[in-house]
Amino acid sequence: MSLPIVEAAYKKEKPETEQIPFGRTFTDHMFVMDYEEGKGWHEPRIVPYEPLTLDPAAMIFHYGQTVFEGLKAYRTDDGRVLLFRPEKNFERLNLSGDRLSIPPVDEDEVLGYLKELVALEKDWVPEFEGTSLYIRPFIIATEPSLAVAPSKSYKLMIIMSPVGPYFSGGIKPVTINVEDQFTRAVKGGTGMAKTAGNYSSGYQAQAKAAKEGNADVLWLDGVEKRYIEEVGSMNIFFKIDGEIVTPALSGSILQGITRTSIIEVLKKWEIPVTERRISIEELYEAYEQGKLEEAFGTGTAAVISPVGELNWLGKKMVINDHEIGALSQELYDTITGIQRGRKEDSFGWTIEV
Ligand code: COI
Repeated sequence: MSLPIVEAAYKKEKPETEQIPFGRTFTDHMFVMDYEEGKGWHEPRIVPYEPLTLDPAAMIFHYGQTVFEGLKAYRTDDGRVLLFRPEKNFERLNLSGDRLSIPPVDEDEVLGYLKELVALEKDWVPEFEGTSLYIRPFIIATEPSLAVAPSKSYKLMIIMSPVGPYFSGGIKPVTINVEDQFTRAVKGGTGMAKTAGNYSSGYQAQAKAAKEGNADVLWLDGVEKRYIEEVGSMNIFFKIDGEIVTPALSGSILQGITRTSIIEVLKKWEIPVTERRISIEELYEAYEQGKLEEAFGTGTAAVISPVGELNWLGKKMVINDHEIGALSQELYDTITGIQRGRKEDSFGWTIEV
């Protein structure tokens, strides 16, 4: 099925450099689809990128009923455009939506619409090293009502933004504060959903960390304040004495698509990888014994973000001398190589638009 398209009257200038700041420039068009109770999801369409008009009582503004996704389109060396495991994003959109009482979308149908949008905006997929077109699908509650109850109407939108390398000048290990006061999420809460409040509730901890020269926060579990959960807005991995360890999905941890992909790559390489609980005390002990070899965050935006230093209650763990570890680099090269269509074995993870 072909979508109705309202073409933008004027086209914007595309960035001519690889130094494109994250999420500030948007393509000429966006995808919109509405939901109403009794009618379901309807009127999928592509329209010019433009501001929305919403009722000030729209429920999104009051109780935060919203979910989002993040994925990317990549340019190959021969000019094709690839998406990386996009079906996983729509699967997770529904998982998050379920937690926020938002009605599910037809995943295959919406993936089809995304492909049409990307095809229309193909020229916006940058080709410089490390660049991509970041895609942000999201759903907002639009019913004008202050009732504390699920909205009866929603909007699903997809906007797209050309982005440069997450770290200008290549990936660099970052310094991280182990957060001992604030909590990101607890089991039974919304930590496993990709929803707005999980992110804005982390800003205070980020500011606190930044004051002491840290780039971000390592989140511990909200009950015992011991078990490691995530780093900033990413999943976290450690290499301890040759074994790769990542916190098991406990209900409060986001099921990252890069996280899943890293685990699958490691399994294929026959490198031992374990999903389990890991406490900060255990990590510190491994550090003291010289067994903490590498640490890195994983996410769509940065792919791999090595951790060079952890600060925990006045104790400092310097990892791999602030250098990027060999495994972190190899995983980064492999995942980004697959995304750019440069690997013979793509694990079947890319689809061409
Ligand atoms: C990612 O790492 O891709 C994220 O989820 C961060 C995003 C909210 C910018």
